[in-house]
Amino acid sequence: MSRTIASIIDGTPREDAPGGRLTSTNPARTDEVVAEVLLADAATFEQACRAARAAQPGWAKIPAPARGRVIAQVGRLVEDNKEALARLVTREVGKPYAESLGEVQEIVDTCDFFIGEGRRLYGQTVPSEMPDKQLFTFREPVGVAAIITAGNFPVAVPSWYLVPAILCGNAVVWKPAEYATALGDALARIFHAGGVPGGVLNLVQAEGQATFEGLERALEQRLVDKVGFTGSSAVGSRIGELCGRNLQSPCLELGGKNPLVVMDDADLDLAVEGALFSGFGTAGQRCTSLGVAVVHDSVHDEFVRRLDKAAREAPIGDPTQDVLMGPMLSERFAERFEDWLDLIGEHHEVCGSSAQGRVNAQNPREGFLGDPEAGLFYHPTIVTGVTIEDDLYSTETFGPIVPVTRFETFDEAIELANAHGYGLSSAIYTRSSLHALRFRERVSAGMVSVNNSTSGAEAHLPFGGNGKSGNGSRQSGIWVLDQFTRWQSMNWDYAGKLQKAQMDVVEIDAVADFRLEERAF
Ligand code: UN1
Repeated sequence: MSRTIASIIDGTPREDAPGGRLTSTNPARTDEVVAEVLLADAATFEQACRAARAAQPGWAKIPAPARGRVIAQVGRLVEDNKEALARLVTREVGKPYAESLGEVQEIVDTCDFFIGEGRRLYGQTVPSEMPDKQLFTFREPVGVAAIITAGNFPVAVPSWYLVPAILCGNAVVWKPAEYATALGDALARIFHAGGVPGGVLNLVQAEGQATFEGLERALEQRLVDKVGFTGSSAVGSRIGELCGRNLQSPCLELGGKNPLVVMDDADLDLAVEGALFSGFGTAGQRCTSLGVAVVHDSVHDEFVRRLDKAAREAPIGDPTQDVLMGPMLSERFAERFEDWLDLIGEHHEVCGSSAQGRVNAQNPREGFLGDPEAGLFYHPTIVTGVTIEDDLYSTETFGPIVPVTRFETFDEAIELANAHGYGLSSAIYTRSSLHALRFRERVSAGMVSVNNSTSGAEAHLPFGGNGKSGNGSRQSGIWVLDQFTRWQSMNWDYAGKLQKAQMDVVEIDAVADFRLEERAF
């Protein structure tokens, strides 16, 4: 059963399709239509920003604890709709159902955290350098936030933006991924049902180019005060440029090439389990997916042997069943993945499955669950013999491929963990606390796991990267508050006379030539 969906601006679904039409399909069964979508154009995006601009001051006037109650209602509705929303995640982007449930839980966790923040949003009282004067700080909402998200986490990652932005008193224009439109629609309707006014959360269903043009116009007219973007480093840098021209600092959460280092003293079975999940869970399409396994020479062959065995035996196929890996997110991701498979060179060796590339009758996967030809299914691929010079080492290969590289010394491991220039997530498997602590200190990633996979950040820890993975902004927990509020400082002088800072400050003299007399002791 498919529905027609559209942008929802100021609470009203649009009936026009100036950006054309699109059909969202199930990547596990590409002939199954999930939704017919009426697409917006740049002008509609701009209108959405105007609606948000008009609604924002009224929303900011609602006391923060009352806004927190609205977030509580949203969280409860997400929980009450957990299975339905998770089923839709599996249907529209092909995520295995167990992962989809986890994804929906991540929204609930985010709401849980921010419910309390409605009663905090603390500012500070600060002493003044003069008497009869008091200093204060206040967190003020930024205004209108334009949020553009990817579809690999089609509802959880958007909630990392929407929940704190709305809690802090901002209005939002949200553009979900064009291959996750039904999910965008579902989540926006839950927010509206929870009490978020239509003008405070506007949904724009649009393609990338129309969104970019709409954002450009909105920024130039000062209709947007914050941009949040989760997606590729290439698009992130264009958005960063656009924001920079308009004196905006965006929140950018971009790609990764997350290293998983296996030391010679690692628990190998644990490392294999972590590599399997972070390499092939979500079909390798998380920002936090394993990007390169960096394995000590002395355990390399055994690690590869065990990972190969685990990947061959892992259940793959129909994402409604209990599988490690379902299909690619959409046709576009499948095509791009095929290009990345071309990075495998003659000096590499490949293992991990009964064949490579697309799973089909000529290229079967032993034990595949369901009909491989119905969807966008690929073999899990492990590539050994990868070196720091290879494109496979330095390119973010968003899909089920695990390049493996080897090292002798700890310094080499660090070099391999950092040299690609991404810095989102990382992991080390070791029994040595010295290695773990030194790795934490020297790896460039914003997130470090010890004896845990590169995936699986919790919803209340700072999430974000360095280098090509972002611009240093952090999401989640208290840290994201700095994205959606700006500090305002106030000084209040009750001396009844002008007291000039830095000039009218009392000075208390010291005996400058005072020295201890050693003989006295
Ligand atoms: C992402 O891939 O953009 O840590 C987010 C994880 C998830 C979030 C991933 N909790 O893998």
